[in-house]
Amino acid sequence: MIIAVINNKGGVGKTTTTVHVGYALAQQSKRVLCVDMDGQANLLMHLFSLDTVYEMKDAMKEAKGIGEPTVLHHPAGFDVLPLSFHVLTQKQYAARIESFAKMYDVVLVDCPPSLETRTLGALDAATAVLIPTEAESLSFNGLTSLIEMAEERKLAVIGIVVTRFEKKKAAHNFYLPLIAKEFRSLFSGAVIPNSAVFPSASAMQRVGYEWNGKKASPALDEYTKLATKIGAMV
Ligand SMILES: Nc1ncnc2c1ncn2[C@@H]1O[C@H](COP(=O)(O)OP(=O)(O)OP(=O)(O)O)[C@@H](O)[C@H]1O
Ligand SMILES: [Mg+2]
Repeated sequence: MIIAVINNKGGVGKTTTTVHVGYALAQQSKRVLCVDMDGQANLLMHLFSLDTVYEMKDAMKEAKGIGEPTVLHHPAGFDVLPLSFHVLTQKQYAARIESFAKMYDVVLVDCPPSLETRTLGALDAATAVLIPTEAESLSFNGLTSLIEMAEERKLAVIGIVVTRFEKKKAAHNFYLPLIAKEFRSLFSGAVIPNSAVFPSASAMQRVGYEWNGKKASPALDEYTKLATKIGAMV
Protein backbone atom coordinates (compact mmCIF):
# COMPACT_ATOMS: atom_id res chain seq x y z
CA MET A 1 0.00 0.00 0.00
CA ILE A 2 1.39 3.41 -1.00
CA ILE A 3 -0.02 6.19 1.17
CA ALA A 4 0.44 9.84 0.18
CA VAL A 5 0.40 12.06 3.26
CA ILE A 6 -1.10 15.23 1.86
CA ASN A 7 -2.38 18.66 2.71
CA ASN A 8 -1.59 21.77 0.73
CA LYS A 9 -1.80 23.70 3.97
CA GLY A 10 1.61 24.01 5.62
CA GLY A 11 2.62 23.01 9.13
CA VAL A 12 -0.34 20.71 9.83
CA GLY A 13 1.71 17.66 10.81
CA LYS A 14 2.33 15.80 7.53
CA THR A 15 5.98 15.07 8.30
CA THR A 16 5.30 14.29 11.96
CA THR A 17 2.51 11.90 10.97
CA THR A 18 4.69 10.16 8.35
CA VAL A 19 7.55 9.66 10.80
CA HIS A 20 5.44 8.41 13.72
CA VAL A 21 3.07 6.18 11.78
CA GLY A 22 6.11 4.79 9.94
CA TYR A 23 7.95 4.09 13.18
CA ALA A 24 4.90 2.51 14.83
CA LEU A 25 4.26 0.26 11.80
CA ALA A 26 7.89 -0.89 11.87
CA GLN A 27 7.43 -1.76 15.56
CA GLN A 28 4.47 -3.87 14.44
CA SER A 29 6.84 -5.83 12.15
CA LYS A 30 5.72 -4.23 8.90
CA ARG A 31 8.26 -3.50 6.18
CA VAL A 32 8.04 0.29 5.98
CA LEU A 33 9.45 2.86 3.58
CA CYS A 34 9.07 6.57 4.31
CA VAL A 35 9.61 8.79 1.27
CA ASP A 36 10.76 12.39 1.63
CA MET A 37 9.04 14.10 -1.32
CA ASP A 38 9.45 17.61 0.03
CA GLY A 39 12.23 19.94 -1.15
CA GLN A 40 12.38 21.25 2.43
CA ALA A 41 13.74 17.79 3.38
CA ASN A 42 12.09 18.02 6.81
CA LEU A 43 11.61 14.27 7.08
CA LEU A 44 15.32 13.68 6.45
CA MET A 45 16.24 16.40 8.93
CA HIS A 46 13.93 14.85 11.50
CA LEU A 47 15.67 11.48 11.25
CA PHE A 48 19.29 12.06 10.23
CA SER A 49 22.10 14.48 11.04
CA LEU A 50 22.31 17.73 9.11
CA ASP A 51 25.73 16.63 7.79
CA THR A 52 24.16 13.54 6.23
CA VAL A 53 21.36 15.61 4.71
CA TYR A 54 23.72 18.24 3.25
CA GLU A 55 26.00 15.53 1.82
CA MET A 56 22.98 14.07 0.02
CA LYS A 57 22.02 17.52 -1.22
CA ASP A 58 25.51 18.20 -2.60
CA ALA A 59 25.73 14.78 -4.25
CA MET A 60 22.39 15.30 -5.95
CA LYS A 61 23.40 18.80 -7.08
CA GLU A 62 26.45 17.28 -8.74
CA ALA A 63 24.22 14.66 -10.36
CA LYS A 64 22.04 17.54 -11.66
CA GLY A 65 19.00 16.32 -9.74
CA ILE A 66 18.79 12.96 -11.44
CA GLY A 67 20.29 9.57 -10.67
CA GLU A 68 19.42 6.68 -8.43
CA PRO A 69 18.46 7.59 -4.88
CA THR A 70 20.08 5.60 -2.09
CA VAL A 71 17.73 4.18 0.50
CA LEU A 72 18.75 5.02 4.07
CA HIS A 73 18.15 2.60 6.93
CA HIS A 74 16.85 4.04 10.17
CA PRO A 75 18.00 2.11 13.26
CA ALA A 76 14.37 1.79 14.40
CA GLY A 77 13.77 -0.63 11.55
CA PHE A 78 12.32 1.31 8.67
CA ASP A 79 13.80 2.70 5.46
CA VAL A 80 13.82 6.20 4.02
CA LEU A 81 13.85 7.12 0.34
CA PRO A 82 15.20 10.65 -0.12
CA LEU A 83 13.68 12.34 -3.18
CA SER A 84 13.93 15.88 -1.73
CA PHE A 85 16.86 16.90 -3.90
CA HIS A 86 15.80 15.24 -7.12
CA VAL A 87 14.53 17.33 -9.99
CA LEU A 88 12.25 15.00 -11.93
CA THR A 89 9.01 15.03 -13.86
CA GLN A 90 5.72 13.98 -12.26
CA LYS A 91 5.91 10.65 -14.10
CA GLN A 92 9.50 10.03 -12.99
CA TYR A 93 8.66 10.76 -9.33
CA ALA A 94 5.79 8.29 -9.49
CA ALA A 95 7.97 5.65 -11.19
CA ARG A 96 10.71 6.00 -8.55
CA ILE A 97 8.22 5.49 -5.72
CA GLU A 98 6.53 2.56 -7.43
CA SER A 99 9.77 0.71 -8.14
CA PHE A 100 10.95 0.89 -4.50
CA ALA A 101 7.47 0.18 -3.11
CA LYS A 102 7.57 -3.44 -4.25
CA MET A 103 9.89 -4.31 -1.37
CA TYR A 104 7.65 -2.95 1.41
CA ASP A 105 4.29 -3.58 3.07
CA VAL A 106 3.60 0.12 3.57
CA VAL A 107 5.06 3.18 1.87
CA LEU A 108 4.32 6.57 3.42
CA VAL A 109 5.04 9.55 1.19
CA ASP A 110 5.58 12.85 3.00
CA CYS A 111 4.40 15.48 0.51
CA PRO A 112 5.19 19.19 0.30
CA PRO A 113 2.55 21.76 1.31
CA SER A 114 1.26 22.46 -2.20
CA LEU A 115 -0.21 20.56 -5.12
CA GLU A 116 2.98 20.80 -7.15
CA THR A 117 4.70 18.28 -9.44
CA ARG A 118 6.12 16.36 -6.47
CA THR A 119 2.72 15.94 -4.80
CA LEU A 120 1.07 14.99 -8.09
CA GLY A 121 3.80 12.39 -8.70
CA ALA A 122 3.17 10.98 -5.23
CA LEU A 123 -0.57 10.87 -5.88
CA ASP A 124 0.00 9.05 -9.20
CA ALA A 125 1.92 6.34 -7.34
CA ALA A 126 -0.40 6.24 -4.32
CA THR A 127 -3.19 3.82 -3.58
CA ALA A 128 -4.39 5.72 -0.50
CA VAL A 129 -4.16 9.07 1.27
CA LEU A 130 -3.80 10.27 4.83
CA ILE A 131 -4.80 13.89 5.41
CA PRO A 132 -3.43 15.52 8.57
CA THR A 133 -5.26 18.70 9.50
CA GLU A 134 -5.74 21.04 12.40
CA ALA A 135 -9.28 21.46 13.71
CA GLU A 136 -9.52 25.08 12.57
CA SER A 137 -11.57 27.03 10.04
CA LEU A 138 -9.03 27.45 7.22
CA SER A 139 -7.88 23.84 7.48
CA PHE A 140 -11.50 22.63 7.62
CA ASN A 141 -12.40 24.60 4.50
CA GLY A 142 -9.64 22.95 2.48
CA LEU A 143 -10.64 19.38 3.35
CA THR A 144 -13.48 18.97 0.88
CA SER A 145 -11.33 19.70 -2.16
CA LEU A 146 -8.59 17.34 -0.93
CA ILE A 147 -11.14 14.55 -0.46
CA GLU A 148 -12.66 15.24 -3.89
CA MET A 149 -9.23 15.06 -5.49
CA ALA A 150 -8.50 11.73 -3.78
CA GLU A 151 -11.87 10.31 -4.78
CA GLU A 152 -11.48 11.43 -8.42
CA ARG A 153 -8.23 9.51 -8.45
CA LYS A 154 -9.95 6.49 -6.89
CA LEU A 155 -7.63 6.54 -3.89
CA ALA A 156 -8.67 5.02 -0.60
CA VAL A 157 -9.13 7.76 1.98
CA ILE A 158 -7.66 6.18 5.10
CA GLY A 159 -8.58 9.33 6.58
CA ILE A 160 -8.38 12.71 8.00
CA VAL A 161 -6.08 12.87 11.02
CA VAL A 162 -6.66 15.76 13.42
CA THR A 163 -3.34 17.05 14.70
CA ARG A 164 -2.13 19.47 17.38
CA PHE A 165 -5.48 19.23 19.14
CA GLU A 166 -5.96 21.39 22.24
CA LYS A 167 -8.96 20.72 24.45
CA LYS A 168 -8.87 24.29 25.78
CA LYS A 169 -9.21 25.90 22.35
CA ALA A 170 -12.78 26.83 21.46
CA ALA A 171 -12.11 26.53 17.72
CA HIS A 172 -10.75 23.00 18.14
CA ASN A 173 -13.82 21.97 20.12
CA PHE A 174 -16.04 23.43 17.45
CA TYR A 175 -14.30 21.93 14.42
CA LEU A 176 -13.49 18.43 15.73
CA PRO A 177 -17.15 17.31 15.96
CA LEU A 178 -17.83 19.09 12.67
CA ILE A 179 -15.09 17.08 10.93
CA ALA A 180 -16.50 13.85 12.42
CA LYS A 181 -20.03 14.77 11.31
CA GLU A 182 -19.26 16.11 7.84
CA PHE A 183 -16.70 13.53 6.81
CA ARG A 184 -17.98 10.48 8.74
CA SER A 185 -16.01 7.40 7.66
CA LEU A 186 -13.41 9.60 5.95
CA PHE A 187 -12.36 10.79 9.42
CA SER A 188 -9.83 8.23 10.67
CA GLY A 189 -10.84 8.87 14.29
CA ALA A 190 -7.25 9.79 15.12
CA VAL A 191 -6.95 12.97 17.18
CA ILE A 192 -3.34 13.77 18.02
CA PRO A 193 -3.11 16.12 20.99
CA ASN A 194 -0.71 19.02 20.96
CA SER A 195 2.41 17.67 22.63
CA ALA A 196 5.90 18.99 23.27
CA VAL A 197 7.21 15.50 22.49
CA PHE A 198 7.16 16.21 18.75
CA PRO A 199 9.19 19.44 18.46
CA SER A 200 11.54 18.29 21.24
CA ALA A 201 12.23 14.96 19.58
CA SER A 202 12.66 16.35 16.07
CA ALA A 203 15.12 18.97 17.30
CA MET A 204 17.32 16.08 18.44
CA GLN A 205 16.82 13.98 15.27
CA ARG A 206 14.77 11.51 17.25
CA VAL A 207 11.35 10.00 16.77
CA GLY A 208 8.93 10.93 19.58
CA TYR A 209 8.75 7.31 20.75
CA GLU A 210 12.54 7.19 21.21
CA TRP A 211 12.62 10.58 22.89
CA ASN A 212 9.81 9.77 25.29
CA GLY A 213 11.05 6.33 26.39
CA LYS A 214 8.52 4.50 28.53
CA LYS A 215 6.67 7.61 29.75
CA ALA A 216 2.95 7.74 28.98
CA SER A 217 2.00 9.87 25.98
CA PRO A 218 -1.58 10.09 24.69
CA ALA A 219 -0.24 11.72 21.51
CA LEU A 220 2.09 8.80 20.74
CA ASP A 221 -0.64 6.31 21.68
CA GLU A 222 -2.91 7.90 19.07
CA TYR A 223 -0.26 7.41 16.38
CA THR A 224 0.17 3.79 17.51
CA LYS A 225 -3.59 3.22 17.19
CA LEU A 226 -3.62 4.76 13.72
CA ALA A 227 -0.67 2.59 12.68
CA THR A 228 -2.45 -0.53 13.96
CA LYS A 229 -5.47 0.36 11.83
CA ILE A 230 -3.27 0.82 8.76
CA GLY A 231 -1.30 -2.35 9.54
CA ALA A 232 -4.52 -4.35 9.50
CA MET A 233 -5.14 -3.21 5.90
CA VAL A 234 -1.97 -4.71 4.44
N1 LIG B 1 0.74 16.98 17.75
C1 LIG B 1 1.67 17.94 17.75
N2 LIG B 1 1.88 18.67 18.88
C2 LIG B 1 2.81 19.66 18.91
N3 LIG B 1 3.58 20.01 17.88
C3 LIG B 1 3.41 19.33 16.72
C4 LIG B 1 2.45 18.26 16.60
N4 LIG B 1 2.51 17.78 15.33
C5 LIG B 1 3.47 18.50 14.71
N5 LIG B 1 4.00 19.42 15.54
C6 LIG B 1 5.06 20.40 15.25
O1 LIG B 1 4.52 21.33 14.33
C7 LIG B 1 5.50 21.70 13.37
C8 LIG B 1 4.97 21.37 11.98
O2 LIG B 1 4.80 19.96 11.89
P1 LIG B 1 5.18 19.18 10.57
O3 LIG B 1 6.53 19.59 10.10
O4 LIG B 1 4.93 17.75 10.80
O5 LIG B 1 4.08 19.76 9.58
P2 LIG B 1 4.04 19.65 8.00
O6 LIG B 1 2.62 19.63 7.60
O7 LIG B 1 4.89 18.55 7.54
O8 LIG B 1 4.72 21.04 7.56
P3 LIG B 1 5.11 21.46 6.06
O9 LIG B 1 3.80 21.82 5.43
O10 LIG B 1 6.02 22.63 6.23
O11 LIG B 1 5.75 20.28 5.41
C9 LIG B 1 6.77 20.95 13.73
O12 LIG B 1 7.58 21.79 14.52
C10 LIG B 1 6.26 19.76 14.57
O13 LIG B 1 7.22 19.32 15.52
MG1 LIG C 1 6.45 18.55 6.12
